[in-house]
Amino acid sequence: MENKKKGVLLDQEIPMILPIIPTIDVVVFPHMVVPLLILDEKIIKGLEQQQDETRKVLLLAAHQPSDNQSGPISITDLYKIGTVANIMRIMNLPDGGVKVLIQGLVKAQVDEILSDDESLHARVTPINLTDDTFNEKHVEVQIKQLLTLVEKIAASGKIFGPDFQVILSQIQDPERIADFILSHMNLTVEQAQQLLEKRTIHQLLDGIYDYLQHEMELSNVQEKIRSETRDSINKSQREYYLREQIKAIQKELGDEDENEFNEFRRKISDLQLPEEARIEAGKQLKRLEKTSPDSMEATVLRNHLEWLLGMPWGVYTKDNTSINDAKKLLDAHHFGLDEIKERILDFLSVRALKADSDVPILCFAGPAGVGKTSLGKSIADCLGRNYFRIALGGVYDESEIRGHRRTYVGALPGRFIQAVRKSGSMNPVIIIDEIDKIGMSNRGDPSAALLEVLDPEQNHSFYDNYLGVHFDLSKCLFVATANDLSTIQGPLRDRMEIIQLSGYTSDEKLSIAKNHLVTRAMKKTGLEKHSFALADNTLEDLITNYTRESGVRDLERQIQKLCSKFARYYVENKTETIFTKENLPEFLGPRRNASELTHRMNKIGVTNGLAWTPFGGEVLQVEAVLIPGSGRLILTGQLGEVMKESAQAAMSYAKAHAIAFGIDQKIFTDYDLHIHLPAGAIPKDGPSAGITLLSSVLSAMTGRAINADFAMTGELSLHGTVLPIGGLKEKILAAKQNGLKNVIVPRRNANDLIGLDRLQEGLNIILVEEAEEVLNHVLMPH
Ligand SMILES: Nc1ncnc2c1ncn2[C@@H]1O[C@H](COP(=O)(O)OP(=O)(O)OP(=O)(O)O)[C@@H](O)[C@H]1O
Ligand SMILES: [Mg+2]
Repeated sequence: MENKKKGVLLDQEIPMILPIIPTIDVVVFPHMVVPLLILDEKIIKGLEQQQDETRKVLLLAAHQPSDNQSGPISITDLYKIGTVANIMRIMNLPDGGVKVLIQGLVKAQVDEILSDDESLHARVTPINLTDDTFNEKHVEVQIKQLLTLVEKIAASGKIFGPDFQVILSQIQDPERIADFILSHMNLTVEQAQQLLEKRTIHQLLDGIYDYLQHEMELSNVQEKIRSETRDSINKSQREYYLREQIKAIQKELGDEDENEFNEFRRKISDLQLPEEARIEAGKQLKRLEKTSPDSMEATVLRNHLEWLLGMPWGVYTKDNTSINDAKKLLDAHHFGLDEIKERILDFLSVRALKADSDVPILCFAGPAGVGKTSLGKSIADCLGRNYFRIALGGVYDESEIRGHRRTYVGALPGRFIQAVRKSGSMNPVIIIDEIDKIGMSNRGDPSAALLEVLDPEQNHSFYDNYLGVHFDLSKCLFVATANDLSTIQGPLRDRMEIIQLSGYTSDEKLSIAKNHLVTRAMKKTGLEKHSFALADNTLEDLITNYTRESGVRDLERQIQKLCSKFARYYVENKTETIFTKENLPEFLGPRRNASELTHRMNKIGVTNGLAWTPFGGEVLQVEAVLIPGSGRLILTGQLGEVMKESAQAAMSYAKAHAIAFGIDQKIFTDYDLHIHLPAGAIPKDGPSAGITLLSSVLSAMTGRAINADFAMTGELSLHGTVLPIGGLKEKILAAKQNGLKNVIVPRRNANDLIGLDRLQEGLNIILVEEAEEVLNHVLMPH
């Protein structure tokens, strides 16, 4: 039989038509010797015929029935690749069945199944494992790898028995090695069949290797888990004994724990706890008393009790309802902001009349550093209430609001419960800072939880997961702040009364600095007794050349920096110094006003636009240039969809008015127009760049430069009408700060200018209705 594997002789020796023996839970591989019990008459008949002839049969495994129920198997359940086997012995059993001992010879593919009432046969073609792809070197390497792996597995005592390797080491032939290993593996029918169906020796060896590798990894993991559980059992037993010992020692030493328990007990009876909280606290305390004091669980229980009993139950501060005092206080803290202060005083008056009236939540919105957070604090001061600030920037997790579940040691209540505890009263002012920066993630939607907190219908019994009892948040006064209202979800926004703050003009900044920032900075740096002072023109220098912002945060920082420079100078030289425009660069470095100049050069295709951003207004230059091409419009600079449409509208306007502007038609066919908006950090979308884009486009096409003394904002309709825009105050402020004297504004925005007289001082505001007017102003003659 040794020569069979060479494959050449097989075809002659194996008849093309063989009786089938289905095997139910075993796949027989070549070289395997297996006893089979056969009861089916039809099959026994086939066998008996064959006994007298070539003694060969085909073994075909049956699919495992999918519902795991054994029933009669049918022809369709049989796999189409099986093993031709030799009948070694047949033994008739007394009750009619037969027992056969067979040996696998070679794999074979079923070409056709021939079945009638009498018999079950198949026409087969043997499969030769060593075909053209056979590579002796490759097989050698594979065998070597396989043997190494087998050795490893055998060493760990799994899968293979003790004699296995001894026998294996005596086999040379790769196919026999494979079959020998296979016959010792614990394969399911599917796995075995998969390996049986491998067409080449290379694939077969790979398949075996992968399977063994997988098995080994599996058993490693199992072993690891087993040893870990063993360890942890040992450890917890040890801990238990130690804990018992500690308990005994503590008993000897006097009762530390008793003190703690008494303290909790005292609090439970003394505090003005609502019934629910009292019951919960009592329950938790009982559990704590029963728990071993050093266990994890005791820590969790203790922390929870500390939170529960640490809340300012029943503690209320009395409101100061004097509007006069409030007015004084607001004026003392903040310069200007008259309109805003009025709104705050109205708000406080309503509350003074009816403390639990359903006043909306105030939300201060505006650019950075204009005093939103500090106004919130002032409201707390006016009312004489405690104050706590919650920063919501980057809160993505719902449990930051609703609290973590109490199951682990580091769990904490949500931010609002924390705020109330830290503020020390049930009715603090809670500043919800940066409410627009709250995020959403897969860990729930914190803004939905926030809505619940802010809803007067629900917040009198807010349930925090950690605290585990309902808590009354309705006496808190919430004040929110935001930079960008557009990112706040609708329902949340509806719940708030928005108070819009704008940036400050240079004059306002000067007054704020003189009246507030300088004194505050001196206090902070301990310079009250010194003659630190900044002259107006020094402050102006700081404002225009060292800061570039809508608010005064940077300015405040620069002033503080000067205070520390002053202090250092004094400590080093024992005399005081005076800051002047001349020596400022010595202390603060060179002035940073270079960008202003770039707005001032008349260029072809470059227009000063005005943009609104959550951080204030910006001057944004639009550039357009013609390049040889084929009439395409190229847009770069990370523009949004609306901006792209505006560019197209500008292009169409230029085409429609080509003759009036003397534009050569060739420009639309032989050139591409490239429009670019530099300043990568500014979000660029919205329609308000319409007339700016148009100016750049026409400038590029006519070759006439744009007057750089102008800045503009306005949406453009296809027919050349200039439509109104938003954020006018911020935009005008930006133009002013950048030294641009002429500002083109849609006439339909005229109403927005009312009350902005101070802002308009020194500016030439030009109201326009038609695109033509814009171009008349900014397109310079050739
Ligand atoms: N009108 C003002 N008068 C006096 N000080 C002011 C005024 N506006 C702002 N400030 C001061 O400027 C600093 C920054 O203000 P604040 O922190 O309230 O800004 P904000 O609007 O909350 O900014 P952000 O959006 O960056 O949080 C504070 O020290 C504040 O007191
Ligand atoms: Mg703030």
